[in-house]
Amino acid sequence: MTYRCSSCNYHSGKWMGFCPSCGDDTPLLEGPDRSRTAGVAANPIPLGSIGDGNEPRSQIGIGELDRVLGGGLVRGSVVLLGGEPGIGKSTLLLQAAAASARQGRQTLVATAEESAEQVGLRARRLGLTDGHEADRVLLLPDDDLDRIIATAVEVRPDLLVIDSIQTVNSRDADGGQGGPAQIRECGSRLLRLAKQQQLAVMLIGHVNKDGNLAGPKLLEHMVDVVLSFEGDPDHGLRVLRTLKNRFGPTHLVGMFEMNGEGLKEVADPSRTFLADWRGEVPGTVVFPAVEGRRSITVEVQALANVTVISPPRRSVRGVDQNRVHQLLAVLGRHGGLRPSQMDVYVNVVGGWRIDEPACDLPVALAIASSFLEVPLGGVAAWGEIGLAGEVRQVPFRLRREEEALRVGVERVIAPSPDQRLDVPTALLAAGLW
Ligand code: TYD
Ligand code: MG
Repeated sequence: MTYRCSSCNYHSGKWMGFCPSCGDDTPLLEGPDRSRTAGVAANPIPLGSIGDGNEPRSQIGIGELDRVLGGGLVRGSVVLLGGEPGIGKSTLLLQAAAASARQGRQTLVATAEESAEQVGLRARRLGLTDGHEADRVLLLPDDDLDRIIATAVEVRPDLLVIDSIQTVNSRDADGGQGGPAQIRECGSRLLRLAKQQQLAVMLIGHVNKDGNLAGPKLLEHMVDVVLSFEGDPDHGLRVLRTLKNRFGPTHLVGMFEMNGEGLKEVADPSRTFLADWRGEVPGTVVFPAVEGRRSITVEVQALANVTVISPPRRSVRGVDQNRVHQLLAVLGRHGGLRPSQMDVYVNVVGGWRIDEPACDLPVALAIASSFLEVPLGGVAAWGEIGLAGEVRQVPFRLRREEEALRVGVERVIAPSPDQRLDVPTALLAAGLW
C-alpha cells in the first residue's frame, strides 16, 4: 500500500499526518499502488529550457544579513531564525523590518511575545521611528495565527515577521502552545501563505542551551532557509550563520555587534578582532580562523607563569580545555617546557569560540612565548598538533595566508606541502628555541 499527499501528490510507503514534501498539514491519503497503475502522463521539461534558478531577490538593506541569505530575501520563501533567548533575534528582525521599509517595502511584524508598547519603545530607542518609512512597519501584537494570517492576506506585506513560532497558536491544531503539533501546523500554514501570497516570511525560533532548535527542528525540513544567531552573552559580538538555504550557499557567516544602539554590522571582523593586538607583548599570536567561507583573524593570548600550586591553575576561554591539556603535554614532551610547573590561562580575544584543530599551533606558541617571555612579533600561525609532536596541515592554507597578510601580519608559521613542521621546528621558527 502507498499513501499520497492530496496537494502535491508526494508518495510514501508509510502513513504520515502531514506531507514532508510540501508541508501540507492534511494527512496522507491511501493511494493506489503506483507500481500497478498506469497513471496519467505529466509534462516533463527539457533540461535546456529550465530557468537559471536565480529567483528574484530583494535586498533587506542590512549587508551582513543579505549576505548570509545569499543576496537577499526570495519572494514566497520562509526563513527560520534560531537562537538562544536574549541573543538579539527580535532586535535583528525589527531592524530588518525598518531597513526593508526604507527600501519602500511593507512589513508586518506579528509579535506574540512582547506588547506593542515594548516593541515601540525599543524601536524608538534604536532610532527606527524617525523617518516616514516607520509607517511601512506594521505591528500586530497577537498570538492567534488565524488572525495573523487573515491580517497578512488583507495588508499584503512584502515581509511577514513572526516573533516567535513557539508562541503563536492555531485553533486547527491540538496540543499546547509551543508543542510539536502546534509548531508543525503553524509552520505549514505560514509556508502555504508565503507561497500563495508570494511574500517572504521570517520566523523566530527559540533554541535551548544545547544549541538544538528543539521545537523548530520540526520546521527545518519545511522551511527554505535556516539561519542561526549565536554569540557569547557576555560579549557584544554576534555571528549569523546559514545552516540551510534552498536558494544559495550554506556555511556563510555575518557578523554583528550588539551595543546600546542595537545591532551594528561588523564590516571588517578581522580588523575589529585585532584592534588591540600588540605583537611585541609575549604570549599573543594571530590565528586566521575559517568560518564558513570566510577567513577571520583573531588574537590568541596565553599567560603562563611558574607556580607552586599543585595542581596548577588552568583557565581556558574560546578553545576546548581538553585540547589545551593535550597541547601542554606535547609541549612538555617535545618542547622542553614543564607544564606541571605552570599556571596557564588561554583566551581568544573578543569572545570568539574556535572549534578548529588548526588553532593548536597558535595556542602552543602563545603559551611558550608567554612562559619564556619572548614576544612573537607580527606572527600568524595555524596547524593541528598531533601527540607525536608533529604539526599537521589543515584546510584553507591560501585563504588564511591571504587574510593574515591583509591585516598586516609580517610572518606566517604554518605547515605547507613544502614545509614540514613539528613542535621543535615551529618553536625554532618562532624564535623560542
Ligand atoms: P532581543 O532581541 O530581545 O533577544 P531575543 O529576541 O533573541 O530574545 O535582545 C536581547 C538583549 O539584547 C536584551 O537583553 C538587551 C540587549 N540589547 C542591547 O544590548 N542593545 C539594544 O539596543 C537592544 C535592543 C537590546
Ligand atoms: Mg525576542
